[in-house]
Amino acid sequence: MTVTRASVNEMMRAYKRTSLLRTAVELGVFDAVHEGAGTAAAVAERAGADPRGMRILLDALAAVGLLTADGERYALAEGAADVLVSSAPGYLGDMTRVVVSRFEWDSLGRLADAVRNGGTVEEQNAETPGFAYWETFAEFASAVTLPTAAVMGDLLEPWAAGHDPLSILDVACGHGLYGFTLARRFQQARVTGLDWDNVLPITEKHAVELGVHDRTGFIAGDMFEVDYQGPHDLVLVTNVLHHFDEQRCTELLTRAAQALRPGGRLGVVSFVRDGSPAEDPEPYLFSILMLSWTAAGEVHSQQAHHDMITAAGFTNIVQRQVPGLPFHVLVAERA
Ligand SMILES: C[S@@+](CC[C@H](N)C(=O)[O-])C[C@H]1O[C@@H](n2cnc3c(N)ncnc32)[C@H](O)[C@@H]1O
Repeated sequence: MTVTRASVNEMMRAYKRTSLLRTAVELGVFDAVHEGAGTAAAVAERAGADPRGMRILLDALAAVGLLTADGERYALAEGAADVLVSSAPGYLGDMTRVVVSRFEWDSLGRLADAVRNGGTVEEQNAETPGFAYWETFAEFASAVTLPTAAVMGDLLEPWAAGHDPLSILDVACGHGLYGFTLARRFQQARVTGLDWDNVLPITEKHAVELGVHDRTGFIAGDMFEVDYQGPHDLVLVTNVLHHFDEQRCTELLTRAAQALRPGGRLGVVSFVRDGSPAEDPEPYLFSILMLSWTAAGEVHSQQAHHDMITAAGFTNIVQRQVPGLPFHVLVAERA
């Protein structure tokens, strides 16, 4: 990429587009337009907003290509109904509540302080027990979870299908969708979700919605301290390893190994650094959030993942990247 005045200017202003998208989702603009509100006054009425404010917002949304404008009438731009209308199966709007949440936005506004410090400067951060952001994450992060959970299920077949009983511990389960998706696929499975106690009511709600509540249990507390109540057949550690340095990750994975029956499986989901920043930018961009929010976390390399998993007592690592998403699924066997 050649750096030009235009490219730097675009980067400087990119946050305005982010803000527009978040605001439109928050005010229900795309749903309103989809359901026939075609003028600023009509959308404003539905959103409980000011008509002038709404006109300026809608024009800006048309300027960035999310709406079309024809005089005073607005419509969804091509493709918008598939990803920005809340009833669409491919709805992505909820993810703005996570990745453009106040938590992330405000913290990245102080990125320079985190760089100076070499780690978080936030009083409330990803390692704070009961961090409120994790409730938001558990509530709204399902859009990227379900395709990844499907890859996990594929990698665990046929081992899991032939394993009865199948006791699954989902460490730092958040929404719980990894364990619950597996429980729907493998009817003999029982899932225990472990997380902070402020998150678990949301986890439990998802267990009810997915119809697996009668095969679900919970452990509230610190994953580095609480009893894992094993032995289990499968331990999941998903989207957690980037919160810690390699030593702390190995400690966590060792706890997972100790909670497994011999021959049991570990299922990991992770961002994995596996190329230069230019070739594979996503993991490097994600690491800035971990710099802002953790003492020593960042996205680990492919080699580091394999080293940590092996050092914790696992073997036969199988790895797949999730199509279209920057996540890798790794399955390993307790040695
Ligand atoms: C990025 S989310 C991952 C959620 C889910 N596993 C997933 O893959 O989407 C991290 C989760 O770890 C939980 N968590 C962080 N530190 C924890 C700790 N020390 N003990 C228990 N849970 C923790 C958070 O509450 C949050 O739900």
